[in-house]
Amino acid sequence: MSQNPDVKYCPTSGYGTDASHNSFYPWDFIEKYMKSDRRQPEPSRHIYFGSNGSKSGASWPPSVSSQDLAGNEARTVAQLTDAIVGFMHQPNSKYDERPANQVIEAIRLLEKIAFIRQTHYGGFYDFIPDLAMADTAYTNLALGAHTDTTYFSDPAGLQAFHLLSHSDPTAKDGKGTLGGQSLLVDGFYAASILKEEDPKAFEILSKMYPVLEVDDKTGGMHRLRWNNDDRGVVPFDGPFTPTAWYEAARKWHSILTRKDVEYWVQLEPGNLLIFDNWRVLHGRSAFTGVRRMCGGYINRDDFISRWRNTNFPREEILQRIVG
Ligand SMILES: [Fe+2]
Repeated sequence: MSQNPDVKYCPTSGYGTDASHNSFYPWDFIEKYMKSDRRQPEPSRHIYFGSNGSKSGASWPPSVSSQDLAGNEARTVAQLTDAIVGFMHQPNSKYDERPANQVIEAIRLLEKIAFIRQTHYGGFYDFIPDLAMADTAYTNLALGAHTDTTYFSDPAGLQAFHLLSHSDPTAKDGKGTLGGQSLLVDGFYAASILKEEDPKAFEILSKMYPVLEVDDKTGGMHRLRWNNDDRGVVPFDGPFTPTAWYEAARKWHSILTRKDVEYWVQLEPGNLLIFDNWRVLHGRSAFTGVRRMCGGYINRDDFISRWRNTNFPREEILQRIVG
């Protein structure tokens, strides 16, 4: 069908508007939307990881260096966002060890994905242990596996930690005894174990919002929230009793603390660890001395948008977004 000369058409999509603000759509778009408004599910990002790394056998954790980023930024950001279930950025051999310059480098890398999210904690953070903050994150205690911002209706999508420095002048034999290893647990892998070993517990935690959220289109896991130190009230008027809920929670906790699901990594100064806070739980071992850490959150929508736009052709992205 020929195009109306009074209409301005987008050269790639075929949509158009005229001077009276009437909108025009290609016939194939209208035909498709009349038949179905179901969008395609996102490609699966569900290759699990455990204590030995990725279950796919791929090298773990996926990582890029500052050199990769400088060499081919577009390709590196595509790799970074595609692998971000748990992801490591490592400095190259010439990196600047001064904390102030590392902070700039960390912010620069995060902003390659999207802007850093502001919350009531602030935006980009940079901290050392400080009991005045009245939050376990600011102590040097061990922290069990948990997700952050469980109490938000839109929990942080990505979480990043960048180790700036860690020293303890009182340590006898220096490096290696300071502690502070980082813990990552693939919550989707743990949920798959729960579903297999105790389907009733899985049902309880997925029906009583908001611990385990299942995607109703694919049946796969969509998001989880879990923090033993930050729990809300378990409702008494739900389909299950509080006793049943706590039994399910005990089973879930026992899976999260199994050795074969815990992935431990020792960050070195200059390392930046990024992970999906809707899926991956994090924690740490106790440490001595003074550890300076910086990092921030990125919104889920902005991360997914960046991932789509760097990994898929435009037509495929439109199919997923518009339908
Ligand atoms: Fe945390």
